[in-house]
Amino acid sequence: MRRVLLSTSTNGRVKHLVTTMPVSRGVVARYVAGESADDAVRVTRELRDDALLASLDHLGEDTLDLGQAEATTKAYLTLLDRLSESGLSGGAEVSLKLSAVGQALRPDGGRVALDNATRVCEAAKASGTTVTLDMEDHTTTDATLETLAELRRSHPETGAVLQAYLRRTEQDCRDLATEGSRVRLCKGAYKEPESVAFGSKRDVDLSYVRCLKILMAGDGYPMVATHDPRLVEIAGVLAARAGRAQGTYEYQMLYGIRPDEQRRLVASGEKVRVYVPYGGDWYGYLMRRLAERPANVAFFLRSLASKG
Ligand code: FDA
Repeated sequence: MRRVLLSTSTNGRVKHLVTTMPVSRGVVARYVAGESADDAVRVTRELRDDALLASLDHLGEDTLDLGQAEATTKAYLTLLDRLSESGLSGGAEVSLKLSAVGQALRPDGGRVALDNATRVCEAAKASGTTVTLDMEDHTTTDATLETLAELRRSHPETGAVLQAYLRRTEQDCRDLATEGSRVRLCKGAYKEPESVAFGSKRDVDLSYVRCLKILMAGDGYPMVATHDPRLVEIAGVLAARAGRAQGTYEYQMLYGIRPDEQRRLVASGEKVRVYVPYGGDWYGYLMRRLAERPANVAFFLRSLASKG
């Protein structure tokens, strides 16, 4: 099921079918703040009222032309302005996919993405906040880490994402567990071949624990991005074992997933950040979330059948 849905996430005909059905909006609303910067600001404020931090993601990936890369970059600049005006930038950073700002463009996508990401980092700094670079499929890992290293020369606060399902990630954790380095560790959400990624949930979970041990014991700032109850518990144990006080690491979860657990962690004194996607291009994001939970697929299909 997971593989089928992840393939579906890049299928143009299925995308057309789903995105032209108004019924899918109900399912989308569970995971996506809305289409506009206003929606993103509104949700950030609601989270703030519950002592939750936010990382905002303007939805869109696999940008095919310069115009689209520019529009996405401007959407981030506008959002950062709005957060600043609303007094919310202290508790809200942004998450950026390099593919959305031009990474895949030929012939010099790497340069385009770096230039655009630099503009977003500058705007974030001016607003008093930070950027974290999302990680996409494994063919982009090296390029994304190279761009990160470039960005960190002038913006050392820029965060990275590492995916525990990749066999290489333990070494990447060692490389990035350094002073001032913010690293979000997640399991990984893309369809990857066995040659580069662990195939079973058990192996991914074990890798997650090994990676987290490295990050918690290191000098950086670990961001524990998972909804998995066992891993959340293990993260607490590893933090204590490494002598870390609450606030020297944080938990991160996706908007709409385990909101009660987000609030429980805050109540226990932990720092918790919610990843909030917004924007019109929600299809690929939605398909990855459905792929993670069969129950969501049943809910989604039922709503299509009853109203479609
Ligand atoms: P897992 O999928 O095993 O789920 C554990 C439990 O969480 C489930 O049993 C269920 O209770 C609950 N749950 C999980 N997904 C759910 C859903 N969709 N609906 C309802 N309940 C659900 N990936 C990536 O490749 N690059 C990236 O940059 C990021 N960025 C990122 C940021 C943040 C803040 C988070 C939390 C996650 C990401 N991810 C990501 C996604 C990540 O790789 C992964 O796909 C999801 O977090 C799901 O994995 P879990 O660790 O939650 O475990």
